[in-house]
Amino acid sequence: MMRIDILSCVPSLLDSFFAHSILKRAQQANHVEVVIHDIRDYSVNKHRTIDDYAFGGGAGMVLQIEPIARCIRALQAEREYDEIIYLTPDGEQMRQPMVNQLSLKGNLMMLCGHYKGVDQRVRDLFVTKEISIGDYVLSGGELAAAVLADAIIRLIPGVLNDETSALTDSFQDNLLAPPVYSRPADFEGHKVPEILMSGHEAKIEEWRYEQSLKRTKERRPDLLQ
Ligand code: ADE
Repeated sequence: MMRIDILSCVPSLLDSFFAHSILKRAQQANHVEVVIHDIRDYSVNKHRTIDDYAFGGGAGMVLQIEPIARCIRALQAEREYDEIIYLTPDGEQMRQPMVNQLSLKGNLMMLCGHYKGVDQRVRDLFVTKEISIGDYVLSGGELAAAVLADAIIRLIPGVLNDETSALTDSFQDNLLAPPVYSRPADFEGHKVPEILMSGHEAKIEEWRYEQSLKRTKERRPDLLQ
């Protein structure tokens, strides 16, 4: 079973995300265990503070190394981690091939930053991989960790009902997914493409491939280079 530990100073942001739908079922079926940790529980003082001013000045508080180190070490004493991931806008941009690789791992740790970030020594001493979910800045790493964990968990074999459905996702073959239709076949005169009702499997596959290619050329030509 895969295990994902998420370290956050606002753990309640993450609780409900993992308590619903596919992510909930994946945990109930023992495909994955997601454990959320409150960095504040590892504070080294009675006020439970975990951040302080930046040396050298400048705006913004910095998450201190001590509570984070204590939390990481407590977890490392229990099991070995394949990756300790820090979610940060200056990390490597998240893409499907990276997600595919991570879905094959056993134990992952994800560290969510806040304020102006974490003390650089956390990154130097503990973090093995830094990931950004896109070129924009969020107020914390929690949403980024949720995005990454979701993308990983849905790839674990058995998590999706129809195992082929992850294979036909957008990006899995560098193509965007084709359009899909369901009932009614005619909505106020807007009809579903004939071919999808023909029952001709090979022709339908060919149509889907052409549509994928067309969409990719129009919307994401960079994927075809
Ligand atoms: N934390 C803040 N912004 C982020 C981003 N774009 N990706 C990952 N972590 C972040």
